[in-house]
Amino acid sequence: MSKNLYIKTFGCQMNERDSEIIEQLLAQEGYVATAEPEGANLILINTCSIREKAEQKVFSLLGALRPEKQKNPNLLLGVTGCVAQQEGEHIRERMPHVDLIVGTQQIYRLPEMLDRLRQGMTSKEIATNLENSFTIPPFQKLLINAPPALPSIACAFKRFVTIMQGCDNFCSYCVVPITRGREISRSMADILEEVEILVSQGVREITLLGQNVNSYGAANPVTRQPLNFPRLLREVAAIKGLQRIRFTTSHPKDLTEDLMRCFAEIDNLCPHFHLPVQSGSNAVLRRMNRKYTVETYLEKVTLLRRYRPDIALATDIIVGFPGETDDDFQATIDLLNRVRFHSSFSFKYSDRPHTRSAEFGDKIPEEVKSKRLSILQEQQDTISFERNCEYIGKKVEVMIETKNGADFKGRTPGNHIVHCPDAAATLLPGDLAMVCILHAGKHSLRGEIEN
Ligand code: 5AD
Ligand code: SF4
Repeated sequence: MSKNLYIKTFGCQMNERDSEIIEQLLAQEGYVATAEPEGANLILINTCSIREKAEQKVFSLLGALRPEKQKNPNLLLGVTGCVAQQEGEHIRERMPHVDLIVGTQQIYRLPEMLDRLRQGMTSKEIATNLENSFTIPPFQKLLINAPPALPSIACAFKRFVTIMQGCDNFCSYCVVPITRGREISRSMADILEEVEILVSQGVREITLLGQNVNSYGAANPVTRQPLNFPRLLREVAAIKGLQRIRFTTSHPKDLTEDLMRCFAEIDNLCPHFHLPVQSGSNAVLRRMNRKYTVETYLEKVTLLRRYRPDIALATDIIVGFPGETDDDFQATIDLLNRVRFHSSFSFKYSDRPHTRSAEFGDKIPEEVKSKRLSILQEQQDTISFERNCEYIGKKVEVMIETKNGADFKGRTPGNHIVHCPDAAATLLPGDLAMVCILHAGKHSLRGEIEN
């Protein structure tokens, strides 16, 4: 029987990387990844539970797949990722047609679980242990050299490398410490080996991934190596042939001057920084358990810009946190106007299971949250547009990502999307081109190749 696998991924880049790992792992068992669910005999939904809406999407998709399961008795349906971790058995109760449920730290067990299901040894498989151990889950190491080198969902020249998983910060609204467990850092040697292999396979850009990369190595009593993120960054950046390096995501409280200095000193470190602020009100930040104030955040931004004036800053913001007053919200708008982020991701607060803020009183009505979100997004759009206009007439380096006829789309070191015609049609994805920016929009730039 042919083995066709379809993976649908929701959520963050950590999840995208996990889907790649699953695909690589199952390729060793003879599974071929397909781009469409039709014809697949294994469908995996890799899920996100960061906000209520993300979780609802998962359940409606699972419901929509019920007729497929009834039509095709050979189809296996599985749920992986954060909703699997959080809901476990409950998924089985709500969606009895789901065959397997695999938590965030158990994906390496997929082959044995699938074997048991295929052989009819069991009708359901569920694995949601959080090992929280300081040894790296075996799948990460195991897959470094495993074929195929390139999962179908990954880009040939731009890849993610996970450097840590889990989170110890316990922001009061956040489900991640519950779904991904305690913070665990991979060894530097493993990370460097993985990047070297990827670069030798033609990868030109690496994004180092973790829930809070700034605290890389902080909680690793096993190795007791003097691990720290700036040191890792310097070593990864020195790998020959690596053209661009990025990282995500960072907690402002762990942003050190040593890391800021990296932006001035490391040539191939892209001047792009995702630094979630969440709110512009100290009272809200305190209830969020963020452990910094608006003032210290602003001081860090000023210092960072002193080290790297052209750095493009992005942030995350939650509106409608329990107890958020009109004045608190206005303070967030004021912060937006002071920092003038290049972009921001903003969300309406939603209660997540087992988080502290779910227990807080003074919940904000849905209409107020929606109103605040649209005010904030409108203001950010204005700022993003003005920021983008600053590039008009400037020359930027663009790494080409996709081609559409005679046009290409690529990204600047600051992560801005650039559209550009390639009249000579000589450029390929992964190539670098110098582009003169002629037009700016809210979300992208347009230019022409500079000869
Ligand atoms: N409600 C709304 N947004 C949330 N985020 C995290 N938890 C919640 C929640 N309960 C947002 C934060 C975080 C981003 C990944 O998602 O802004 O930085
Ligand atoms: Fe979603 Fe967080 Fe899980 Fe990523 S780690 S998939 S953002 S809940």
